[in-house]
Amino acid sequence: MRRIAVIGATGTVGRAVTSELLASGADDVVAMSRTVQDSSVPPGVRAVQADLTAASTLDAALRGVDAVFLVWTAPEDAAAAAIERIARYADRLVLLSAPYKTRHPFFQQTNPMASLLAHVEALIAASKIDWTILRPGMFAANSISWWAPQIRAGNAVRWPYGQAATAPIDERDIAAVAARVLQSDGHVGGDYVLTGPESLTQAQQVHIIGSVIGRDVAFEEISPREAHSELPFPAPALDMLLKAWSAAIGIPALVTTTVAELTGRPPRTFREWAADHADAFRA
Ligand SMILES: NC(=O)c1ccc[n+]([C@@H]2O[C@H](COP(=O)([O-])OP(=O)(O)OC[C@H]3O[C@@H](n4cnc5c(N)ncnc54)[C@H](OP(=O)(O)O)[C@@H]3O)[C@@H](O)[C@H]2O)c1
Repeated sequence: MRRIAVIGATGTVGRAVTSELLASGADDVVAMSRTVQDSSVPPGVRAVQADLTAASTLDAALRGVDAVFLVWTAPEDAAAAAIERIARYADRLVLLSAPYKTRHPFFQQTNPMASLLAHVEALIAASKIDWTILRPGMFAANSISWWAPQIRAGNAVRWPYGQAATAPIDERDIAAVAARVLQSDGHVGGDYVLTGPESLTQAQQVHIIGSVIGRDVAFEEISPREAHSELPFPAPALDMLLKAWSAAIGIPALVTTTVAELTGRPPRTFREWAADHADAFRA
């Protein structure tokens, strides 16, 4: 049995990957982040605190590790030393990236996160490690940080570009793919674009959440200018999202079949995701 380290184990996807690895029979899993603790990981998982921006701290998490799942949200200038360290210990790396190479207008807008991820991918490609890249589209889980505060507080979501469509993916489906490619042969060099099963406008997603929690939640369209003054995003992040949503108006979201092909079962619908996270939207 392989020892697998999940780097970014306290985050949305890393937490799901840790759980999915255990559910799929892995019995030697190390959960790593700066703040991870034994109490924040499932029983049987070893929690190791380390910082990607201080490469030598990674040794304790990486010793004896065969494969790594990596979430990179740290600064770009730390990547070279961290990737070099990971490649020193592990022979397999699965990176959580994004579909910025995909020829769909939603994914083709200028995006500082894309250049960070491209840099990390280039370092990985130049190393000796065997890699697989996962490129999920919009996370269903974004709805919690984006819309839950307004839904908990009232019966409307004031948001821009209600007619922009995405195919939100459940973090558990990203995790199921990650667990599969970490534990089976045949995925070296794999570059997988992952989406949820259906194209839904942002307004439709808000209505689905409302129906799941038994309330009529209206989508109130606001302008990009109003979004800048009302929504709690750093300006560069909001600009990136506004460009992507505006490019997606009137175009169905990209939907791939990759989750089903790699896991043997269809990805969860947005309604299923919302039902499983309904408490986050209840007052
Ligand atoms: N949201 C989307 O719709 C979307 C779509 C496609 C791709 N993505 C990509 O998905 C990634 C984000 O995934 P996520 O939502 O699961 O992230 P997240 O919830 O923000 O979690 C980030 C994880 O990284 C850890 N971390 C951050 N800095 C670290 C450091 N210096 N050293 C060690 N660990 C560190 C954090 O833990 P500590 O704070 O404890 O260190 C945490 O466990 C990004 O690369 C993003 O581009 C997101």
